[in-house]
Amino acid sequence: MYDRFNRSIDYLRISVTDRCNLRCRYCMPEEGIHLLRHEDILSFDEITGFTRVAVAKGIRKVRITGGEPLVRKGIVTLVKMIAGIKEIVDLSMTTNGTLLKHFAGDLKKAGLHRVNISLDTIDPERFEYITRGGNINDVFEGIDAAKKSGILPVKINCVVKESKEEEDARGVTEFCLKNDLEIRYIRQMDLVQGHFSAVDGGTGGNCALCNRLRLTANGKLKPCLFSDIEFDVRDLGYEKAIMKAVGVKPESGSNNLTGGFFNIGG
Ligand code: 5AD
Ligand code: SF4
Repeated sequence: MYDRFNRSIDYLRISVTDRCNLRCRYCMPEEGIHLLRHEDILSFDEITGFTRVAVAKGIRKVRITGGEPLVRKGIVTLVKMIAGIKEIVDLSMTTNGTLLKHFAGDLKKAGLHRVNISLDTIDPERFEYITRGGNINDVFEGIDAAKKSGILPVKINCVVKESKEEEDARGVTEFCLKNDLEIRYIRQMDLVQGHFSAVDGGTGGNCALCNRLRLTANGKLKPCLFSDIEFDVRDLGYEKAIMKAVGVKPESGSNNLTGGFFNIGG
């Protein structure tokens, strides 16, 4: 699929839940989030059905995100269903890693190719502060489990305020060098104010190269993270939602007043 600006759209990011077991300060609003109702969340059949249509239209890469995807009940089953779509050449997941030790082996068997794990510091106390209560050892164990299970390459997403020279980021850089992990630095963004920036070491944040569509947990298809434009895949039907989203995908992002990262999946 090509959009109006001749960008090839072949990448679908699927948020499978708005829930998370952490409360990262830059992601979750201070006052907490009002969670989606169960009946509004797309079922596994709906997600897989949508993905099948998207693949028929040219999607070849799929990433599963959240919230935290591993808190969605039955996630391994969903991965297996999506992995069964054989045209998908790259099937990945973005996770905070805290539950990964429980799932890594099964996710590999289910057909997950690779994983991105969020890690903004290697200092246990700083981690607990940033995530409002998380235990960094869970992430370290998750990273090990992913490597042992062969969900490779393991990439680390490191959110920085301004640059990778900050103390927390330097620690993560060193950790990644020692442990043979790829790292991407993501500058902290503000969706509402429209502050977004390119991802250092990745392809995100560069509008001219953007190849993505995003499906939220409640079935809104969004052509751009930094825009309020969305199409309801249940109301419109899968194919029509895809054609509309690709048809109006903005040349570049502006701002987004409705979404938070916990719902759209970064
Ligand atoms: N700015 C940049 N990245 C963010 N993420 C969550 N909130 C923000 C934000 N405000 C990132 C997480 C994770 C991915 C899911 O999105 O760190 O790597
Ligand atoms: Fe959860 Fe990821 Fe948001 Fe942190 S950044 S609260 S781990 S969804």
